[in-house]
Amino acid sequence: MPSDPTSLPPGFDAAAALLEWYAAMGVDVTLADAPLDRFEESAKAKAAAEAARRQAPPPAPRGPMPAINLPPHAAAARPAPAPSLTPSQTAQVPTEATVMQARAAAQSAQTLDELKALIEAFDGCNLKLTAKNTVFADGNPASKLMLVGEAPGRDEDIEGRPFVGRSGQLLDRMLNAIGYSRSHNAYIANVIYWRPPGNRDPSDVEVAICRPFILRQIELINPELIVFLGAQPAKALLGGDAVKQGINKLRGRWCELEIGGKRFKALPTFHPAYLLRTPIKKREAWRDFLTAKVFLENGGMLPPT
Ligand code: URA
Repeated sequence: MPSDPTSLPPGFDAAAALLEWYAAMGVDVTLADAPLDRFEESAKAKAAAEAARRQAPPPAPRGPMPAINLPPHAAAARPAPAPSLTPSQTAQVPTEATVMQARAAAQSAQTLDELKALIEAFDGCNLKLTAKNTVFADGNPASKLMLVGEAPGRDEDIEGRPFVGRSGQLLDRMLNAIGYSRSHNAYIANVIYWRPPGNRDPSDVEVAICRPFILRQIELINPELIVFLGAQPAKALLGGDAVKQGINKLRGRWCELEIGGKRFKALPTFHPAYLLRTPIKKREAWRDFLTAKVFLENGGMLPPT
């Protein structure tokens, strides 16, 4: 009897269940067609480095020695450096030099378009390897109100715009409730421009690399008020005591962010994703949004507390 062409192939259910389980565990990106044994790679690199070290001539005797510029033929006789992994095999390990590179690139941007192009061309952040899109910003760049979140999630990575998933819809409703919207008078960005795989927290190094870019973005927008959505952006950008505090302590408290000698007023509040999980906190977030509205509509004067 011919098999039913509409029926699913054997093993389909099990494969679908496995994929579903992977997604639930946060494994929702593929990096390569075949698995890579990173332990074997690093063991090989270590062995090659050790072999090169053994072949190297013994160290020169200690003591002050004049600097010598080796002629080309002598330089060529130096042992070859240990073979390194090609960029396609491994994510770049960011270093302080990468942070400096980000700083120099960010400082060179004179307009938002230039900054966006520089970030899109920047290859120093390993998160870019797994992200589909660079998520730069959304909203009106002439806004007095700038909101800064943490990092793009799955929906933002697909669309290339911040806060377009469920937490973004809540954020839009909260903004609308105080008479603001991204299409009219609010501008939204994140500290991190690429989605961390599986929505993990960005590492300190990833934050350090993206920091100069978001600081420059704030400078170029020049908002009257920055609202930090959650503790992570507040900690990443304010540093100091903020780093040690939880969002319950930080929220609703006026802060100042100094960039290039200019002080920006900032107000941390809860992240909308947290509000979706903890609706009782919406009351406090609402208070923060009202405070922001009064501040903005008072010509940037602090409302009485
Ligand atoms: N959460 C964030 O912090 N930023 C986004 O863009 C989406 C979700």
